[in-house]
Amino acid sequence: MSATARKTAPMPDDIRAMKGGTPIVSLTAYTTPMAQMMDAHCDFVLVGDSVGMVLHGLPSTLGVTMEMMEMHGRAVARGLSRAMMVIDMPFGSYEESREQAFRNAARLMASTGAGAVKLEGGVAMADTIAFLVARGIPVMAHVGLTPQSINTLGGYKVQGRGDAGEALMADAQAVADAGAFAVVLEKVPETLADEVTAAVHIPTIGIGASAGCDGQILVLDDMLGLFTAFKAKFVKRYAELGADGAEAIAAYADDVRARRFPGPEHVFGDAAPGAKP
Ligand code: KIV
Repeated sequence: MSATARKTAPMPDDIRAMKGGTPIVSLTAYTTPMAQMMDAHCDFVLVGDSVGMVLHGLPSTLGVTMEMMEMHGRAVARGLSRAMMVIDMPFGSYEESREQAFRNAARLMASTGAGAVKLEGGVAMADTIAFLVARGIPVMAHVGLTPQSINTLGGYKVQGRGDAGEALMADAQAVADAGAFAVVLEKVPETLADEVTAAVHIPTIGIGASAGCDGQILVLDDMLGLFTAFKAKFVKRYAELGADGAEAIAAYADDVRARRFPGPEHVFGDAAPGAKP
């Protein structure tokens, strides 16, 4: 399936069917213009809880709320007509019980129009994923580095190295068996990502994983060079909009102080209405 040939948004089953085929393309988005930019190119767009760090200046994703996800989810939905929208469940909105997870997932889907939710966790979340899927909520899982658990993981470390690889494989198998339609593999060794991709029957979406995954995702602000607080090794910068923007703002400030802006082409004459501007 090519993103450019598609007339209607794909469903989770369409994404699932892309396993082993042309790699699935995805990015995060948080606003309408961002969503419009990527709509023709992505198979799905994730309203990631990374919004807390890249747009709101939070130190981690832990402070992201349901209200923030709903607001950004609605904005992204207005910019999409082709790509499927997946929305992250924020920290604290699904871990307590399957019922809590259902309530909040249904709220996110109903208020934003998202086609699926994403939640973090492997074996520990398998029961919740099965509960949601059985009740009409498509779930994308997320294993490996799960940023909502940085306090128990001890930071943003590579996951699944050495003996820990077995547990990571078990996590991926558990979410696949529970009915997730795809699984994000974040910051895991390349060989392990390839083994997981070969072992599970659902698409793996890599971020800091392997080119052999069934698809890839990046945070838009990272790949455009807009988020400059730090750059993870797995980020490839396709533009330097942060640096270009800072230069543009400095040029504007210089122009204003030197009265070079506004120029004659930016101001209005006093001609009568109907005359040429
Ligand atoms: O919140 C996010 O942006 C994510 C991606 C990094 C997968 O979960």
